[in-house]
Amino acid sequence: MCGIVGYIGYREAVPLLVESLEKLEYRGYDSAGVVFPEENRLNFIKKTGKLAALKEKLAVQSYQAKMGIGHTRWATHGKPSDNNAHPHTDCTGCFAVVHNGIIENYLTLREWLQSQGHTFHSQTDTEVLPHLIEHFYQGDLIAAVLNTVSKLEGSFAMAVISSHEPDRVVAVRQDSPLVVGLGEGENFLASDIPAILKHTRKAYILNDGEIALIQSGEVKVSDWQLNVINKEVMEIKWEAEQAEKGGYDHFMLKEINEQPKALHDTLGGRIAADGSGVILDEIKMTPEEIKDLKKIYIVACGTAYHAGLVGKYIIEKLVHLPVEVDIASEFRYRHLVIDPGSLVVVISQSGETADTLAAMREAKRLRAKVIAVTNVVGSSVSREADGVIYTWAGPEIAVASTKAYTTQLEAMYLFALYLAEQRGTVEPGEIRKIILEMKKLAAKSQTILENTVEIRDFAREFAGCKDVFFIGRGLDYSVAMEGSLKLKEISYIHAEAYAAGELKHGTLALIEEQMPVVALATQENLFDKMVSNIQEVNARGANVIAFAMEGLKDVEKVADKVIYIPKTHPVLAPVLTVIPLQLLAYHTAVERGCDVDKPRNLAKSVTVE
Ligand code: G6P
Repeated sequence: MCGIVGYIGYREAVPLLVESLEKLEYRGYDSAGVVFPEENRLNFIKKTGKLAALKEKLAVQSYQAKMGIGHTRWATHGKPSDNNAHPHTDCTGCFAVVHNGIIENYLTLREWLQSQGHTFHSQTDTEVLPHLIEHFYQGDLIAAVLNTVSKLEGSFAMAVISSHEPDRVVAVRQDSPLVVGLGEGENFLASDIPAILKHTRKAYILNDGEIALIQSGEVKVSDWQLNVINKEVMEIKWEAEQAEKGGYDHFMLKEINEQPKALHDTLGGRIAADGSGVILDEIKMTPEEIKDLKKIYIVACGTAYHAGLVGKYIIEKLVHLPVEVDIASEFRYRHLVIDPGSLVVVISQSGETADTLAAMREAKRLRAKVIAVTNVVGSSVSREADGVIYTWAGPEIAVASTKAYTTQLEAMYLFALYLAEQRGTVEPGEIRKIILEMKKLAAKSQTILENTVEIRDFAREFAGCKDVFFIGRGLDYSVAMEGSLKLKEISYIHAEAYAAGELKHGTLALIEEQMPVVALATQENLFDKMVSNIQEVNARGANVIAFAMEGLKDVEKVADKVIYIPKTHPVLAPVLTVIPLQLLAYHTAVERGCDVDKPRNLAKSVTVE
């Protein structure tokens, strides 16, 4: 949600900033802008629309600046426009700020600044920042930024430059992510790692309450009282190519196709050599704590929430513990009763989603133990949780999450099996069986990816539809929710997921001739019930496409078309079932000419409430 970049060194800054912004465009694409020093002043170049529009504007000449900051915006306060685009400046034009987050008290600050004679040119909350810096500036940029910060309520990651001190970029963080990339004679700043990967693998991850003074030859990090902090250098393991499209038309398709590898990598080192159990010391729970567990809360947003729903089924089945799954923005504001013995598991691909982070902090305040499932090493949730299960999916760039979801499922399986083993709730033979099947998921997912002809045909049919229903029972219902989210977020077709048994309590009224219904039928124990539900929609003229587990042949009698999922242990079916649904959403969106990697109004990393 808004991407920030910064550079200072010996190279031409503008192309480098733009290239870095390209890697962060998934964070927002309502407008973009850069600012850099030029002949004792600051040159601001901004443009509404996607980054391509800014690139075009910049292409007319070259710029010599060796430092600057840039921004790609996801609008919160003020509609997308050139004026509302970042960077923002003060009355003198000597200070420039890019910001990610929300300044909650900006209206009060703005009124006060206006009473002091400041003139505003945008509707953004951000614009108060350069004006405050101007107000406080007495020859020391860091001091002016810190004075500004002391007046703010809300969340912010910001980068500041000034024509008065063109040898430095100042960066400060509270609740929104910032990474400082460390080079030789040059340094980088970004909201997220992919933006710096091409240039360096060494980084400082800024914490809340830290300020960084970034110069070409050094980076100094301190707290807001200016006590120096000796930061640990993080070595980034991701490869630069992982953040490139690598020959695919879209990041989403590339990431769908990376699932076999991501699944394989996420299992790596976590299965005992003889296949008898799971190694998961990283959750940092003692055997006593595991035995004393009474209840588990799973908290997440979006696709990660859907992974949590699968987690609930699995933990309840294998560990016999009650599990509540909550949307983070709900969890954080309800009156939680967290008894001793409660464990909170937060799931977040980015590890930076504002609501998930806040929910996690609330859980910790209530003294719950917290485990994070995340894909980003060094992310906020990973640093604040008591234990972390990393998904090893590599960078996920497409807004629509795919490989993060399947690896989150895998993390939930590992977690549930580990607890089950420790609590003795599943026979060792059954644990072995599930583990053996888990090891085959990568190869089976590859088979699905190699047979997409029928899915593409369905996509052509779907492209002309206005509404699609997804139905399923049990685990299939959770996957139906993810399948429907994928379709609506990238193709803009209205899609709804329903528990198949619930349909007749209202929604069945919406089913009409030729309406597409995607029916998931992978669970043998619920299969007969599911077949009846398919019949119910079929009788009303729906066009039913079923995704069934291999061997469940009867579905052919009631569905119009059937695609079979390779046979696996029923609890693992979601990992495989979701892949054709991801492909269906992808190809439908492509058919409709949608911008798959940049769906309208959305952003990948939602760092505001
Ligand atoms: C955004 C993304 C989704 C993602 C959700 C949660 O809405 O578009 O793909 O599932 O945020 O993100 P997280 O990083 O916390 O998993």
